[in-house]
Amino acid sequence: MAEERRKYVQRRTPKPKNLKGTIKRVMSYVLSFRLQIVLVVFLILLSVVASVASAYFLKPLINDYITPLIGVKDPDYSGLLGQIGLMAAIYIIGAFSSFIYSRIMVSISTGVLCKIRMDLFAHLQKLPIRYYDTNSHGDIMSRFTNDTDTLRQMMSMTLPQLIQGIASIIFTAVVMLSLNVELSLVVFGMMIISMIAIVLVSKRSQRYFKEVQQAMGDLNGYGEEMIEGQRVIKVFNREEIIKEGFSEINARQANAGFQSQAATTIMMPMMANLSYITYALCAVLGASMTINNRLDIGTIASFLEYSRTFTRPITQISNQFNYIMSALAGAERVFDLLDTPEEVDEGNVTLVNANIDEEGNITEASKRTGKWAWKIPNKDGSFEYRELKGDVRFEHVTFGYEEKKIVLNDISLYAEPGQKIAFVGSTGAGKTTITNLINRFYDVPDGKIRYDGININRIKKNDLRRSLGMVLQDTNLFTGTVMDNIRFGNLEATDEECIKAAKLANADSFIRKLPHGYDTMLEGNGSNLSQGQRQLLSIARAAVADPPVLILDEATSSIDTRTEHLIEQGMDGLMHGRTVFVIAHRLSTVRNSNAIMVLEHGVIIERGTHESLIEEHGKYYQLYTGALELE
Ligand SMILES: Nc1ncnc2c1ncn2[C@@H]1O[C@H](COP(=O)(O)OP(=O)(O)O)[C@@H](O)[C@H]1O
Ligand SMILES: [Mg+2]
Repeated sequence: MAEERRKYVQRRTPKPKNLKGTIKRVMSYVLSFRLQIVLVVFLILLSVVASVASAYFLKPLINDYITPLIGVKDPDYSGLLGQIGLMAAIYIIGAFSSFIYSRIMVSISTGVLCKIRMDLFAHLQKLPIRYYDTNSHGDIMSRFTNDTDTLRQMMSMTLPQLIQGIASIIFTAVVMLSLNVELSLVVFGMMIISMIAIVLVSKRSQRYFKEVQQAMGDLNGYGEEMIEGQRVIKVFNREEIIKEGFSEINARQANAGFQSQAATTIMMPMMANLSYITYALCAVLGASMTINNRLDIGTIASFLEYSRTFTRPITQISNQFNYIMSALAGAERVFDLLDTPEEVDEGNVTLVNANIDEEGNITEASKRTGKWAWKIPNKDGSFEYRELKGDVRFEHVTFGYEEKKIVLNDISLYAEPGQKIAFVGSTGAGKTTITNLINRFYDVPDGKIRYDGININRIKKNDLRRSLGMVLQDTNLFTGTVMDNIRFGNLEATDEECIKAAKLANADSFIRKLPHGYDTMLEGNGSNLSQGQRQLLSIARAAVADPPVLILDEATSSIDTRTEHLIEQGMDGLMHGRTVFVIAHRLSTVRNSNAIMVLEHGVIIERGTHESLIEEHGKYYQLYTGALELE
């Protein structure tokens, strides 16, 4: 049981921390708000000076305005009031500037967060399919939400406190030294002791922070998977075991959370006590110095105030330590994602709209002409145009997703323009993999797949994919209307064109029966539609793109035979003169193909037309006559 559960729980060993690098990168984001930062630092300094000064004024207040009045008849309070007024003014300036800089800091931190999120999302669009195939989607989401948010919290709260703390320590130290050197040394000594204590305590908790964020990611990943899989879970009555799986990661998260914070809970009382001790030491020492007439009362009052405030920033920062560490751990996960290498695209052959005259001369057109050409750069900087015909050739392609496991073995095939090529074969034979290679979701070594005679590794991925209309095996619909979803195939398509595509895909009749027809909202991957209807929509989406090459990966697997037949007729009209790859389970679908490839364990074991294959009396024959069934 435990073994089984463990399978659900993805674990990655936390990477070693790179605190310095992470801090640097966070700062590089913050520094894009240079002007505001300068203002913030200025305001912080102002508020620190104000608070240091207000304590400093205790000395003249006592020495010059209070002590002289002691025992005097009819004392003149005007000087005293003036002094108090001055202190109040300084205090107000301090409070006001601290209010302003906190606000600016909030705007900086939300700005930074917005930018990081945008960078993340933009980067996600550039990652290869392999990344999505190998990472939990919930964990990716967690980097977006949870990790960026801890970072925002840290920036809006901790960063200003840090600056303020450091400034305040420096100012206070200078003023204290000017008041009395011996007492200052006592306070400094105590500060060093508290710093050592902080370092000792925090060392222990440090390593848990990354684990907290990681566990949070796993938790999200698990949660997402189980929410998506609710139907399956219910069908198999696996609620309990799923709960156990969750409880395991949840406990891991809680434990890491506890460990990371447990050590730091001692910080507060420890720092408070050290601060009292410092205060008491100063009071005793100061009092004895005053008695010996080496110090005046005003200085002592000021100094005691400083000894109290001096360690305050350290206490505060050490309290924020949790936030800082988890924010940095989160930031590191964000940057890990940002550092995942992008999909490389060294292709320089592009696809352009073309005009082709009777002699076959090709010129580039700025608008859609219904004809396309490959624009191939020559070494000397000139361009050569070649008509996009849809000739696709595989030459001894061997491929595996992982190095050791070969999925396609020495595949050679060709599809001439206008041909319909079909792949049949058992599940897992490698049919979808072939399509993954044509559109370069995964790359094969050089020179093995040619498209109109061009090595597909030379074709820019976007242009390559633009030339291919794909109906993927897994249908994906987006939140939006039915019309929006069809138009996803060609953003410039008019409503009429979308409807025409829907008719072609035979989706029109069911769409019209929906509550709002083409304006019906689809949500949650079109969960209000049947699987077959979703497939019809994705076929319409591919059709509206009007692609030169069409690839249908079990696109009609959930559609009844009659409808399938109608789609086929519609598509045959559309695809006249273009190349179609079709993968289908039903052999009736592939009968009229120019060539049928029978695939088994990544090897083409038979190929030919329907008739020739029947004649051959091989596997296809057996499948067709029902002697064998596709698993
Ligand atoms: N993203 C992937 N990573 C690793 N292996 C994969 C991946 N996708 C498919 N495979 C493996 O490749 C083989 C062929 O899969 P596929 O091409 O999807 O088969 P099908 O013929 O059913 O479309 C299977 O053994 C499958 O396990
Ligand atoms: Mg498949």
